[in-house]
Amino acid sequence: MCGIMGFSGHEAQNSVEIVLGGLKSLEYRGYDSSGIAYFDLKGGKIKSVKKSGKLVNLSNEVNGNGKVKSDTAIGHIRWATHGKPTDINAHPHLDCSGKIAIVHNGIIENHVSLKNALAKKGHRFVTETDSEVIAHLIEDFIREKKTFYEAVRLTSLRLEGAFAILALSADEKSVAAVKFGPPLVIALKNGNFYAASDVSPLIEHTQDVIYLKNSEIAYFQGGKLSVGTFSGRKVSRAPVRIDWDSSRAAKSGFSHFMQKEIFEQPSCLLDTFSSRVSAGGRKGGLKVSLEGIKLTGDDISGASRIVFVACGSSYYASLASKYVLEKICGLPSVVEYGSEFRYENFPVLKSDIFVGVSQSGETADTNSALELARSEKAKVVSITNVPGSQITALSNRGVIYTHAGPEIGVASTKAFTTQLLCGVLLSLYIREKSGFIPEGGLNLEELFKDLVDLPKKAEEILFMDDAIKEIAKKYYKSANFLYLGRGILYPIALEGALKLKEISYIHAEGYPAGEMKHGPIALIDENMPVLFLLSKNMLSSKTISNMEEIKARGGKIIAVADYEPEIEGISDLIRIPETEGILSPVLYTIPLQLFAYHIAALKGTDIDQPRNLAKSVTVE
Ligand code: M6R
Repeated sequence: MCGIMGFSGHEAQNSVEIVLGGLKSLEYRGYDSSGIAYFDLKGGKIKSVKKSGKLVNLSNEVNGNGKVKSDTAIGHIRWATHGKPTDINAHPHLDCSGKIAIVHNGIIENHVSLKNALAKKGHRFVTETDSEVIAHLIEDFIREKKTFYEAVRLTSLRLEGAFAILALSADEKSVAAVKFGPPLVIALKNGNFYAASDVSPLIEHTQDVIYLKNSEIAYFQGGKLSVGTFSGRKVSRAPVRIDWDSSRAAKSGFSHFMQKEIFEQPSCLLDTFSSRVSAGGRKGGLKVSLEGIKLTGDDISGASRIVFVACGSSYYASLASKYVLEKICGLPSVVEYGSEFRYENFPVLKSDIFVGVSQSGETADTNSALELARSEKAKVVSITNVPGSQITALSNRGVIYTHAGPEIGVASTKAFTTQLLCGVLLSLYIREKSGFIPEGGLNLEELFKDLVDLPKKAEEILFMDDAIKEIAKKYYKSANFLYLGRGILYPIALEGALKLKEISYIHAEGYPAGEMKHGPIALIDENMPVLFLLSKNMLSSKTISNMEEIKARGGKIIAVADYEPEIEGISDLIRIPETEGILSPVLYTIPLQLFAYHIAALKGTDIDQPRNLAKSVTVE
């Protein structure tokens, strides 16, 4: 939630332009209001502009009087938690003197007590936000004759909750960047300082970045950068090289980022497995090497189960991974919602292997669950798309990166299918270490072949885009949808329904096809389109019986299938290529993404930034 961006230039005067440009890349994180604060080169003061609504409102306001010249600026894009998304509640927030400005991503849990104490000392508050206390607290320490850096450090020690903060001091002409919880990436290039919530706004300036760790503060003044801890210890932090190029964060001719990201999937899938899987191996067929995963044979043989923790689409990817793991490793697994985990008395065993799945790596619910698992000495592995994100620090047995590249569309697409694939890779890795032989065996040679063919088959589905658009035209006015699947296709039904809900605002539900008769069948009439996912080799005759039940009640059937089902009365069939069962979720997902995309486009919704959502949910 919320994105922050800062720039301080050695001799540059285009900081406002750079920060507004950076906020554009961060817009997926929140888009209900935005603001910027910059040093006014003439008066030596801080100026701030804040606007509710989309970033364009802010850009128009700032650039209304021609280009602003300033060497230092910080900006914010908001997804409101405390206080409505109004101009006044937008960040930055200033102290009473107007010499300190802050932007904040996160939540200050003790803001009420801090605010009361500061108000008693004469500080005047003008917003309904939790964040405003930060500016006043820094000011309070400055009143006690602390330097700006010291004031920021002491403030950080007083704050409770989660915070990534950028703060400006007009008196010291300096910027501080503070991290505790939400991500903060900084960079220094040619004497220019950059800071942002993620790397996407930085990669057009530099590929060498520093991921601040929790309880660290970066301080930039007069072209010099230093990093220290909340306890006052200096630390030296070397940059890491990011291989995302800036073109991957642009729409490149597509109408929406989501559409572009759907179409990127064949190459992303290839990136996910190509350097990790090869032909051959101990028993012939296929070898998986997951660099960075430190699960030992003892960890695996000692574990009685695998516990997945995730939210949203990542939860559905985990559900599919559970099927794979149980099928090919014979290891029981459970899938827990990050948002529920901490409150349900889940008995964590020391022998448990937890797998956190998160595109962003900064979902507070998922990360808190993993923290709890770690505190009980469980082993933690994660699957994430974002290098250096918070989840990576929680993963004591390593990280599997999805290698999907930046995902800007709020609705997850390529991150989801690459998560599915990482679930398969992790299962193969565990299987190899445990030596488990699944019932009926596992034809590794066939699996390898299907894996290699997967990007090509994904491409074939993308060629059906026009046909899927035609189907979408028939149904986009429907008010409700049901998505049904069995076995490993059930989580994909859930994901398909979520995609439709998120971007088209149409009510849709995913169900195991066999559960229909236990209640939801009451909903079926001629106005209810039902989308079935079925595969020749997966309980197809049972799914066909479920289709008959729908047909008998007048429901309209859309089918996504890897064969021609023997049943009359399917209104629309999307025929996809066949693949090995454990890889099939990847292929079944793609037509559902296209279907949701076209329905949303026909309805004219804001596809990349659907109402009320944010890309990463860094609050509980
Ligand atoms: O970054 P994460 O994968 O942890 O995010 C979890 C969910 O918030 C996310 O999957 C959400 O459901 C997406 N909007 C799905 O499209």
